[in-house]
Amino acid sequence: MTILFRNARVLTLAGPPQRRGAALADLGVIAAADVLIDSGRIARVAPAGEIRPRPGTHDMNAAGRVLMPGFIDCHTHACWAGSRIAEWEQKLAGAAYLDILKAGGGIMSTVRAVRAATQAGLQASLAARLTEFLENGTTTLEVKSGYGLTTADELKMLRAIAAAARTWPGTVSPTALLGHALDESEAGFVDRVIHETLPAVHAEFPGIVIDAFCEQGAWPLADAVRLLETAVGEEANPIHSSAGAAHNRAGIRVHADQFNPLGMIREAVRLRAISVDHLEASIPADLALLAASETFGVGLPICGLHLDGRFANLRSLVDAGGLVAIATNCNPGSAPCTSMPLAIAAAVRHCGLTAQEAIAAATINPAAVLGYTDRARIEAGARADVILLRHTDERALAYELGGNPVDTVVCGGNIMHRAGAAST
Ligand code: NIG
Repeated sequence: MTILFRNARVLTLAGPPQRRGAALADLGVIAAADVLIDSGRIARVAPAGEIRPRPGTHDMNAAGRVLMPGFIDCHTHACWAGSRIAEWEQKLAGAAYLDILKAGGGIMSTVRAVRAATQAGLQASLAARLTEFLENGTTTLEVKSGYGLTTADELKMLRAIAAAARTWPGTVSPTALLGHALDESEAGFVDRVIHETLPAVHAEFPGIVIDAFCEQGAWPLADAVRLLETAVGEEANPIHSSAGAAHNRAGIRVHADQFNPLGMIREAVRLRAISVDHLEASIPADLALLAASETFGVGLPICGLHLDGRFANLRSLVDAGGLVAIATNCNPGSAPCTSMPLAIAAAVRHCGLTAQEAIAAATINPAAVLGYTDRARIEAGARADVILLRHTDERALAYELGGNPVDTVVCGGNIMHRAGAAST
């Protein structure tokens, strides 16, 4: 398919494949440009009026609206079964997230539902959510396992994720969240995860990134470190390369400091983890250490909106020159949300990012978290995952709340979604 977007305000995101400090705000804007897409790639970017449509070209008049890379959502738990709406009502009545988990609910309630679900059922519900993600402009996303906990159920989740990915035009990057919760009913649970589940997952999904939730009531620091160290040592190639593009980090990520600062940031930096995610409770000294490292800090501001009004201080990370990304964290407990525009709006209001920084933290930097260097930019040769907004001003992504700012989604060079006529 050949597509020509004429007269667009283009956020090219041209420049280095990951952005720190002041560079995060540079979106590489071209105020008026034509963008030609052919055979799944960006073929040409030229000043507006320079490219003429040929017969057979899908001709799109952008009329000054914003054309930008599709969102890259680098942290989701979008594969699940069951419902946590009743539990959310308990939270509204005052129950704390970690207390619900301690009482056997929370993550463990979703674990029970996932264990009872079939692989086909998990695949179908994930596929429905992937459609929502696409309509909201997300063209690449990460999906974690972590609600199975047994070897068989973790593999069931990862197979469901792989199967759903094959039916979606975007790209799904799977992560094995083997250290999500502790199954108190199983003696020797942590050792079994490390010595049985981890090798089984690595055998079937070589190079897959391993994740853990280090928190009081979830994985203690020492056990999380043991899991991640074993994962690094076990990988045939310890350089993360699951997405076909290597970078100098170990194939591990970790949920750190969501409620309590347990010292995981220091360990993650020492282990050269790809990212530490959450950071709502991080102490300034740990954020400074993180900012000086190659490990990304991933902010998940929908959690603060949904749970308790606490947010990561991403401003301090950016100001200290750190690598920052944001994500929806889509999951049934702390962030029931498939909208990166809402994550951008929340990050700007509550994490201290500017609209421009949040856009880069939702596109080019999360591409680097997932190891992709072929996308998240609009320049010749890049994968044609782009979105046309309803707006002529990209700051509307952060300003507007609750609507869908995305008009058209092009994924792998094909038009996959069109919302309708322009409103601005
Ligand atoms: O990142 N906190 C750990 N994991 C998810 C929540 C999962 C759930 O509550 O089901 C998170 O917020």
